[in-house]
Amino acid sequence: MSDEVLNSLYRALAEADGPVWWFADEQVIAPLPRAREDVQVFCNRVDTAEALRTAGFVVHLGDFAVEQAPLKPQTVVYRVSKERPLVNMLINAAMTALPVGGRLLLSGYKNDGLKGYADKTAKTFAAERVVRKGGSGAYLAEITKRADSAARLPDKDYRQLRPICEEPLLYSKPGIYGWEKIDRGSRLLISQLPDFVEGLTTPVHRIADLGCGYGYLSVAANEYFPNAQWLLTDNNATALLACEKNMAAHGMVAECVLTDCADGVSGP
Ligand SMILES: C[S@@+](CC[C@H](N)C(=O)[O-])C[C@H]1O[C@@H](n2cnc3c(N)ncnc32)[C@H](O)[C@@H]1O
Repeated sequence: MSDEVLNSLYRALAEADGPVWWFADEQVIAPLPRAREDVQVFCNRVDTAEALRTAGFVVHLGDFAVEQAPLKPQTVVYRVSKERPLVNMLINAAMTALPVGGRLLLSGYKNDGLKGYADKTAKTFAAERVVRKGGSGAYLAEITKRADSAARLPDKDYRQLRPICEEPLLYSKPGIYGWEKIDRGSRLLISQLPDFVEGLTTPVHRIADLGCGYGYLSVAANEYFPNAQWLLTDNNATALLACEKNMAAHGMVAECVLTDCADGVSGP
């Protein structure tokens, strides 16, 4: 599979002035660009991190903790994500970290809102921007920082976990799939639980919740299995942060593991 938006970003990455920061999420696909020693990747997805590490990149897997970067960037490259608060948070992080004269390269399609992001970034940070249209409707915006600024794009206070539901109490944040709501399919699944529990013939000691998100299923099922040990996995580091908070909020004995499905976990 090939994606012109990513291809244009990969070409720009090959020529970018270093050090480079690359914000990568689940939209990163092969064939990957050649690794450079002066590129640091920030990524919240296990599969993306693994693919880029295997390709030779230095990867920081987590909730885009750019403050941990040993080197400030001269260039930041980013194929914009689907979720606006995440995109705005990462643009803010880039425009803060770049020196005057440094460049932010954003790629995306028209319906990703790429031109809007470029315009708002240029206006908010008094930066210069050039937007180029490539093949298949792909855009690449080159934004050059011209002055330091304390301005910020609105990011819904991205870093903060916040309550999104009172009964049961659940914390979540942007960057997690369906972060502000309880999924209808997940509610339906939980509504079947009383009948399922009634049919059980042996006690349940340990329960795995694979692809747990912020942990709704486990929190909602907890009342039926008050003495169980929980194992929750997700391949999204941001989801795991919320999941850990929800396990603690409900006093659940839980192991929360950042992994691909059940990779590397063991036990009954
Ligand atoms: C539709 S959400 C469901 C979340 C949660 N189970 C619920 O019902 O609210 C799917 C979750 O699976 C995670 N996921 C997708 N692929 C995964 C994989 N290979 N390994 C672990 N988690 C994965 C996503 O990050 C997301 O949090």
